[in-house]
Amino acid sequence: MKVLLVGGGGREHAIAQALKKSSRVDTLYCAPGNAGIAAIAECVPIGTMDFDALTAFAADKEIDLTVVSMDDPLCAGIVDAFEAKGLRIFGTRANAAIIEGSKAFSKDLMKKYGIPTAAYEVFTDAESALSYLETAKYPIVLKASGLALGKGVLICMDHAEAEAGIREIMVDRKFGEAGDKVVIEEFMTGREVSALAFVDGKTYKLMTSSQDHKRIGDGDTGLNTGGMGTFSPSPFYTPEIDAYCREHIYQKTVDAMAAEGRPFKGVLYFGLMLTADGPRVLEYNTRFGDPETQVVLPRMKTDIVDVMDACIDGTLDQIELEFEDNAAVCVVLASGGYPQAYEKGKVISGLEKFDGAEGFYCFHAGTKLDEEGRVVTSGGRVLGVTALGSTLQEARAAAYEAAGWISFEGAYMRHDIGKAIDAAR
Ligand code: AMP
Ligand code: GLY
Repeated sequence: MKVLLVGGGGREHAIAQALKKSSRVDTLYCAPGNAGIAAIAECVPIGTMDFDALTAFAADKEIDLTVVSMDDPLCAGIVDAFEAKGLRIFGTRANAAIIEGSKAFSKDLMKKYGIPTAAYEVFTDAESALSYLETAKYPIVLKASGLALGKGVLICMDHAEAEAGIREIMVDRKFGEAGDKVVIEEFMTGREVSALAFVDGKTYKLMTSSQDHKRIGDGDTGLNTGGMGTFSPSPFYTPEIDAYCREHIYQKTVDAMAAEGRPFKGVLYFGLMLTADGPRVLEYNTRFGDPETQVVLPRMKTDIVDVMDACIDGTLDQIELEFEDNAAVCVVLASGGYPQAYEKGKVISGLEKFDGAEGFYCFHAGTKLDEEGRVVTSGGRVLGVTALGSTLQEARAAAYEAAGWISFEGAYMRHDIGKAIDAAR
């Protein structure tokens, strides 16, 4: 069959790899793709928000299945646009993608259906938000309700910081329209776990667990980023925690969306915090995580096309979703300066060392081919170097070894990805 993948990040490279592994895929296109994806798919220069051009391409090439796992196009209705033209697509319709697109919606959903999450209030004007802050408990968390590239969350240690935060989001509108509504939330502490599930509207199948590292600096310091590295599985996601989440969170969320007339199909990402009072939902995403996907999909045994088909057709209950009994670690190589200003166009060397290296993956995120055909940097997060191992420790050692194969000017990585696993022994 012919498959079109929409996107061009590290997550998409990992999805492309999984699609390529499927015995059912003959031809893989990617719009727009990147320099790494170009090695395994035919990249077409169409933007991810250009639904007219994407649907026209899918119709023209007689694409059997289109796959989308990015928040912006999903929230803007790419699935609806394809379905309106009778084109088969894996992803979430806009009316259900709101679970990520509006934090106010997802918090209200959790409250209404008794799904455990941090206590919160929603505000639509700065004045009432500021007056609420006068008697609030600190630290406190401010969240721009809309999509803000994972950057719209501020953790404020005291009243003065929170006041400044409200002004940034609601008055200076640093995150644009995303800040029209603000969620002010209780500050929680605990380990974070990412739990991703395939969902067909009524049934969910959980993937293996993982953990991201969101801060730029070693020891979880500095600014928030899109994610600097991951490991899978999370040793902190114990059978007890799994049982609790299955009873109180996963099926309840799927059922709640169906009851609201917004049946959820696609990948549902549960961002969990394991607090002393039990697991709590930090956030939902309507897609695979990045860079969680880079450690989850290389461990998946089941054919991804079979699973995606079952999600579309509502037959997920008939799928047995299986993962290898191993581990994976991904170390992100970023451009020096990220998540603030950084330079692009740096030539990357060492990529050929991954050719034929079994158990190693170099997922491209921000790369492109320059006029001379060299792979150069083109984004903040450049590569996700991933290694498998029979244990997390082995995978971590291998990922750092492989990260050393690559060089480009200004390359930056964290040196403590997966450090937390030592605490689990
Ligand atoms: P979110 O986009 O909602 O997942 O928030 C981004 C990050 O901010 C999370 O991964 C947490 O590290 C942190 N965070 C979000 N909400 C809270 C909270 N209520 N308490 C503590 N940390 C939080
Ligand atoms: N790695 C966090 C996310 O994909 O939202």
